[in-house]
Amino acid sequence: MNNRPIGLLDSGVGGLTVVREVLRQLPNEEIVYIGDTRRAPYGSRTKEQITAFTWDMVNFLLSKNVKMIVMACNTATAAALEEVKQTLDIPVLGVILPGASAALQTTQTKKIGVISTQATLDSKAYVKNIMQRTSDAEVFSLACPKFVPIVESNEMNSEIAKKVVHESVQSLVGKVDTLILGCTHYPLLRPLIQEAMGSEVKLIDSGAETVRDISVLLNYFALNGDKRQENHHEFYTTASVTPFYEIAHNWLDGLEDLKVFHAEIETKPKKVMLVATRNQGKVREFEKLFGSFGYQIKSLKDFPNLPDIDETGTTFEANARLKAEQISALTGELVIGDDSGICVDALGGRPGVYSHRYAGEDPTDAQNNAKLLQELAATENQPEKRTAHFHTTLVAACPQHESLVVEADWQGHIATQAQGENGFGYDPLFVPENSSKSAAELLEEEKNAQSHRGQALQKLMLALPEWLENKA
Ligand code: DGL
Repeated sequence: MNNRPIGLLDSGVGGLTVVREVLRQLPNEEIVYIGDTRRAPYGSRTKEQITAFTWDMVNFLLSKNVKMIVMACNTATAAALEEVKQTLDIPVLGVILPGASAALQTTQTKKIGVISTQATLDSKAYVKNIMQRTSDAEVFSLACPKFVPIVESNEMNSEIAKKVVHESVQSLVGKVDTLILGCTHYPLLRPLIQEAMGSEVKLIDSGAETVRDISVLLNYFALNGDKRQENHHEFYTTASVTPFYEIAHNWLDGLEDLKVFHAEIETKPKKVMLVATRNQGKVREFEKLFGSFGYQIKSLKDFPNLPDIDETGTTFEANARLKAEQISALTGELVIGDDSGICVDALGGRPGVYSHRYAGEDPTDAQNNAKLLQELAATENQPEKRTAHFHTTLVAACPQHESLVVEADWQGHIATQAQGENGFGYDPLFVPENSSKSAAELLEEEKNAQSHRGQALQKLMLALPEWLENKA
């Protein structure tokens, strides 16, 4: 037994046709419903948009602690069901499979019509589902883009609605014995569709068919609700409450104490932090540390038209400033410039600021490492004479604002052999203090917790909020 609610989603009021059946057939279940009315109709949108909007609704339902999610929307099912199902660890189901199965059980002639939104039609989800099971069926698909706006504006009983429905389905009349209402809004137009198609045509309400599947999964996962005194269903819309309430009130007649609320579900675009580097190793470290901080990390790879900034400075700070301030002036973004290097005591701090170009103009990591080993050859068996530290200076720059500078070191020594596959640059040769492993043998998390860049990033994270505030 599980008394958490079932979450249902739709682009608007269409999914209420599923809710009606859930209330009738599964009276012990509590419901949380979200209709993204503000962004409906979904049917004319791209798969990417529909998927992103569906995720907004899914996340909203998860915040309500639902035990199962029903995509009470064919369009969302066609675009996003598989992705959402694979990501969540609660049962997720859509309306297309149940609708297709019911049509196959009903048809005598195997001539099946499917009316749906354009996006559902383009996905070919119904055709594929039907043909997989009965290859000699004939499927006639038709998009009816005018239906959803009629339903959303509560015009189902108007003369216009009658005319539009008759004209829209005309091309299917006489061709099929079974018609799938492949959009959960359409059952609200059912009398008109039946009249237009003729009384002998069987109409399949894909949403209503889904309730059987919901019931099967509740049983299978032992998620059924207890019989309770009363259920507290909640309905949410992303647009105005009143028009939604009116349609829900009519459609869910008998539901006492109908509660409709407004919900904001759109995920705000993340703030962008541009890291002035093309080095993917560095970008990954920034992503690890700043992703959780609410920033989307971009790198110079995302801005292919920006010029290369020459590192002409003679200090780490000068180079980090050059990169951050110039790129920020060109893009107008918050930019983090980083300059890092390894400073070896026996070499008087070299290669230091020249670490990247140590073995030539654009050397490989292996060439740099080989040169370092060669320069230290005289101290081969004396780790105490091979002490070194990694250094990072980070500069945060925004146009017309004094930059923020933080720095950190990571102490250790240079090994006599390269060890490990992780990390980049001089990591395979650098053995941190109190460690027997090289920096390239540490796991990403271990390295980030102690490294020069990890520490500098922590300092930046601490200082950044106040700096950003003063900048505004
Ligand atoms: N109820 C949705 C469906 O089942 C509506 C589509 C739309 O918003 O266009 O497809």
